[in-house]
Amino acid sequence: MSENQNYETHECDVLVIGAGGAGLRAAIEASAQGVSVALVCKSLLGKAHTVMAEGGIAAALANVDAEDNWKTHFRDTMLGGKMLNNWRMAQLHAQEAPLRVKELEHWGAVFDRTKDGKILQRAFGGHTYKRLCHVGDRTGLEMIRTLQDRGIHQGIDVYMECTITKLLKDGDRISGAFGYYREDGRYVLFQAKAVILATGGVGKSFSVTSNSWEYTGDGQALAYEAGADLIDMEFVQFHPTGMVWPPGVRGLLVTEGVRGEGGILRNTNGERFMFKYIPEANKKDFAETDEEAARWVEAAVNGQKTDARRPPELSTRDNVARSIYTEVKEGRGSEHGGVYLDISYQDPERVKKKLPSMYHQFKDLADVDITAQPMEVGPTMHYIMGGIRVDADTQASRVPGLFAAGECSGGMHGANRLGGNSLSDLLVFGQLAGAGAANYAKSLSSTPSVSNEQIKSAIDDLEEPFKADKNVNPFDLHKELNQIMSTYVGIFREEEDLRTGLEKLNQLKEKIKHASSSPNKIYNPGWHLCRDLQHMMISSEAITRGALNRKESRGAHSRLDYPATDPEYGKCNTSIFQQGDEMKVEMTPCPEMPCELKELFEKKH
Ligand code: FUM
Repeated sequence: MSENQNYETHECDVLVIGAGGAGLRAAIEASAQGVSVALVCKSLLGKAHTVMAEGGIAAALANVDAEDNWKTHFRDTMLGGKMLNNWRMAQLHAQEAPLRVKELEHWGAVFDRTKDGKILQRAFGGHTYKRLCHVGDRTGLEMIRTLQDRGIHQGIDVYMECTITKLLKDGDRISGAFGYYREDGRYVLFQAKAVILATGGVGKSFSVTSNSWEYTGDGQALAYEAGADLIDMEFVQFHPTGMVWPPGVRGLLVTEGVRGEGGILRNTNGERFMFKYIPEANKKDFAETDEEAARWVEAAVNGQKTDARRPPELSTRDNVARSIYTEVKEGRGSEHGGVYLDISYQDPERVKKKLPSMYHQFKDLADVDITAQPMEVGPTMHYIMGGIRVDADTQASRVPGLFAAGECSGGMHGANRLGGNSLSDLLVFGQLAGAGAANYAKSLSSTPSVSNEQIKSAIDDLEEPFKADKNVNPFDLHKELNQIMSTYVGIFREEEDLRTGLEKLNQLKEKIKHASSSPNKIYNPGWHLCRDLQHMMISSEAITRGALNRKESRGAHSRLDYPATDPEYGKCNTSIFQQGDEMKVEMTPCPEMPCELKELFEKKH
């Protein structure tokens, strides 16, 4: 490290921004390839949204259902994503997930076991077979713990509580990043040959979300401003089950594992409403009576085969979230505006063993004993399928030296992600991004140079809110953003609402120019938010523009004015990029799937 007048400087070959599953896996890989790596995290190491993927990692290990294989996983993923997925990403993901899970186990992750000592797998929505390798309902946490341990022992330099606000470029290519430490506002420059963005999602743009304060779309915004394009940003996943009560924990995730273990959804009249929401085309895969669903659960609990079909609660997330929303809207909701999720009919000891976090979460936060009472749940913004467009095999964006992995990248999940496919995505594409960035860094003969002008502009930007003429409270602005996105760009959308939302976002953009903060840089959340708001505005505008442009319903994007899926839109991804000061939207053809993969959709594997 060298000291400069205004900022400290660090030099590395590969800079990884974000230390969730994707960032950690990328850093481990780059470091293993022999390049120097710096890992920046906005929060403390170990605190990442990865831990909110509780129920499991999807990988076709075939430990419980011997028929499973990568082709079925690929097929499920594409069908779940309504065929908008980048087929090559979905293929790599399905093929490599088993390797990455076994590697994680080898590095020390302690999975739940089958009776014969293999990694245990459970059912999740949209997966044909029991495919979710899990550690109770703490899978993401175990994954982070394992990767963190591995990364630290590999000697990766970690910079915690550090927010990156600008990517630096030497001509067209990346030369580093600039930011500040949240603790005391000290500025920091990272000079790097390659940068991997792994910053996660955009949840803080919405009022009810499972995401915590870090998830302000930083990677998407940094990439967009650096000249990368974003794809399919309109596809926002509302997880069907978040807590709805008490108000302080509204949105907190209730794992899909509850439904995977047999949890039943009912409305306030006691009706098991999911039976009526299974789309005609999928009816053959789902139980049609309580009795049939109960037989499936019993067989799953006892590890037995059955001819019973899956319970309707295991429909894909987009469908379950819409169904719950509709029940509540039509007046059949629970006391606090959700529905009931019930697992209390099962043996209490089994519930506590399989879902220990849920047991404690409801007991401690809501005074509800889930072994004896139903939970109140409702949709919560959980994940964004869209993100930075990358090459499937290397995770390179179109900006030389800029890579992305995990939730901030797009393509893998198409129009809707299947539960459990995020943890496997982080491992598979984290590894590929680490290798891609390391190879790129090694190919450069010299370190790209950083421009003082760009650094000065980054500092000026950060200090804007300190100016005397600024007078708007950033917390009010954040609340306004949440209201706009949740009201006009939510689960169901239509032209008029989206246009109103866009207009309001434009007005908000003007107000944000006047966001103000005291010039105190020591732990000043108001100042941090002034900056985060700029990032949130980029992803919020991209989501809204993408949603306006896609005049059909597909996966998680439901247009009331265009309720049908339109095959023409199915051929195109939405591309969003910056031109001058304007955000542009274009439809670009989806890459063509090779014949041998197309065949998988003709016969079942
Ligand atoms: O419900 C869950 O456990 C979340 C999993 C995921 O988002 O993949």
